[in-house]
Amino acid sequence: MKILVTGGAGFIGGNFVHHMVNKHSDYEIVNLDLLTYAGNLETLKPVEDKPNYKFVKGDIADETFIMKLFADEKFDMVVNFAAESHVDRSISDPGIFVQTNVLGTVTLLNACRKYGITRYHQVSTDEVYGDLPLDRPDLFFTEETPLHTSSPYSSSKASADLFVMSYFRTFGLPVTISRCSNNYGPYHFPEKLIPLMISRALGDEELPVYGNGENVRDWLHVYDHCTAIDLILHKGKVGEVYNVGGHNERTNLEVVKTILQALNKPESLIRYVTDRPGHDMRYAIDPTKLETELGWKPKYTFDTGIPQTIEWYLENRDWWENILNGSYQEYFDTMYGTRL
Ligand code: NAD
Ligand code: TYD
Repeated sequence: MKILVTGGAGFIGGNFVHHMVNKHSDYEIVNLDLLTYAGNLETLKPVEDKPNYKFVKGDIADETFIMKLFADEKFDMVVNFAAESHVDRSISDPGIFVQTNVLGTVTLLNACRKYGITRYHQVSTDEVYGDLPLDRPDLFFTEETPLHTSSPYSSSKASADLFVMSYFRTFGLPVTISRCSNNYGPYHFPEKLIPLMISRALGDEELPVYGNGENVRDWLHVYDHCTAIDLILHKGKVGEVYNVGGHNERTNLEVVKTILQALNKPESLIRYVTDRPGHDMRYAIDPTKLETELGWKPKYTFDTGIPQTIEWYLENRDWWENILNGSYQEYFDTMYGTRL
């Protein structure tokens, strides 16, 4: 079994590559990544010498390159993580989100059609469902919830999902889609809420909370997302969408306060800043289908996963300090300069 994992130098793709290389030593895992600002080969250090692992640098939207790669490698399965993934960046510069998330996905689908695969899996997000109101805690996203996006990021992901489903219906391509809630865990790029707050709190820097901090996200440890995708690849039904989440809803303020408490830092570091335009209020996944049809169960709750994650950031300072020392400061100043 030869599996192409795209975006495997990023946060979730990197964790998935670790999982697959170690769990399925008889599979060949080929990691294709463009190494954008979010891609980091340091993340692959633990597996880079394994005989069943290979890295290839390239762009999923480069048709000539992708067709040649598929012709040469003859993949059995494709798992597409490669994407522009940050909502705030999609607000500043939507075009690259269309290029990578939509055109890149279609390029991969075309290669799968041409060269034949047994499964194409699209790693999608709960953000395609839009948001839920804070005063309706009884509501959750199911696989039947209509797509109703808010940001250029979620719009590009929803668009990709529609193309994936159209290749199933029109061309009979064997596809599956997973839509997961917010992930956290090791190797998370410090532009996203949890690693941003951990790294800044450790440096006694202000923690920028958008708006009033009451927005709710449904947090899942990345290891649990990886086991869900592995399960869907092996047991999922083609043409189906599976929601992935573990019922761990927290307001952003609760998340930030939990991190401050764990690091023994004062709440006075919190700084309320200008809200994100179009900011989604609440995400909440109903994972019943994945649990009942495929038997998936998450190992971590937020209360066990957050200490594990903080521990990882304390023990792997080099990994994230190297990022902060690069072009990151420029990003932070541009994104937060007018907010802080
Ligand atoms: P990430 O930004 O950490 O990593 C993305 C990776 O894709 C990087 O390594 C980057 O170099 C690579 N990449 C970008 N453009 C590329 C291109 N054109 N060709 C090849 N590689 C390219 O993202 P992440 O948080 O790991 O998310 C991975 C996937 O999971 C995304 O598709 C995202 O939409 C989805 N997702 C993320 C979350 C979350 O909470 N982070 C939740 C649900 C779904
Ligand atoms: P983020 O990690 O960007 O994920 P997403 O927007 O895809 O859910 O943000 C999570 C939540 O945290 C979201 O409601 C926005 C908020 N947030 C802040 O309050 N401050 C920040 O500096 C960042 C990056 C996010």
